[in-house]
Amino acid sequence: MSHSSPFRLGVLGSGKGSNFAAIADAVAAGTLPATVAVVLSDVPDSGILSLAAQRGIPGHHIAPGPFRTKLDESAEAEFIATLERAEVDLVVLAGFMRILKGGFLRRFEGRVVNIHPSLLPSFPGLAAWKQALDYGVKVTGCTVHLVDQGVDTGPILAQKAVPVLDDDTDGSLHARIQVAERELFPEVVRQLALGHIQVKGRISHRRGPTP
Ligand code: GAR
Repeated sequence: MSHSSPFRLGVLGSGKGSNFAAIADAVAAGTLPATVAVVLSDVPDSGILSLAAQRGIPGHHIAPGPFRTKLDESAEAEFIATLERAEVDLVVLAGFMRILKGGFLRRFEGRVVNIHPSLLPSFPGLAAWKQALDYGVKVTGCTVHLVDQGVDTGPILAQKAVPVLDDDTDGSLHARIQVAERELFPEVVRQLALGHIQVKGRISHRRGPTP
C-alpha cells in the first residue's frame, strides 16, 4: 500500500451512502488524511451517487450485467479500470451489495475494505441486522474487515458493539448499527491511511498510536 500523500480512496456503494458521507465528511473536516478520488455504484439512482455529486466528488454508475449478486466480466473490468485511472490506494466498500471475486481482488490484493452490519463471524450475508434480531442475540454491531475470496470472511480490522433492545424492529436496529458504522468506518480508514494497521494472516494489529 502506498502512503504517499494524499491517500486516495475509491468508494463503491449500492445504497443511500451514509457510510460514504461519514468518510467524505471526515476528509472534509481534516480528520481523515485522504481524498475520495472516485465513487462508483452499480445502481444508477443510488443515494451514494447523489451525495457524491453534492460534494463535487467524481461519481459513476457502472452497469453490473445480468447477474443479481456479482459483476459480469466486462463490468468487473470497467470497475478495475476506473479505479486504476483514479490511482486509488484503497477500495472502500460502503454498502456495495455485490460479491467481488477473482480478478478484482487480485488487482487490489489486501487493499479492499468492507463494512458489515454485524459482529462477524456472526451473521454474514444479507440483512445481517434482521438475522441478529431473528436469532435473538442481545448484542450485535458492525465489523470493518479486509475482503477476501469468501463472503464476509476476511481479516477483521475493528468492531463496534451495539445493544439489541426488546422493542427493536428491523429498522430501529439497523439505524442503531448505522450510527456505530459512521463512527467506526472513518476511523479505521484513517488508521489504514496512516499505516497504523498491520495484518498478518487473519490477525490485525495496531502498530501506531491508538486514538
Ligand atoms: C450498511 O449498513 C452496511 O453495513 C451494509 O449496507 C448498509 C449501507 O448503508 N452493507 C452490507 O450489508 C454488506 N454486506 P449506506 O449506503 O447508508 O452506507
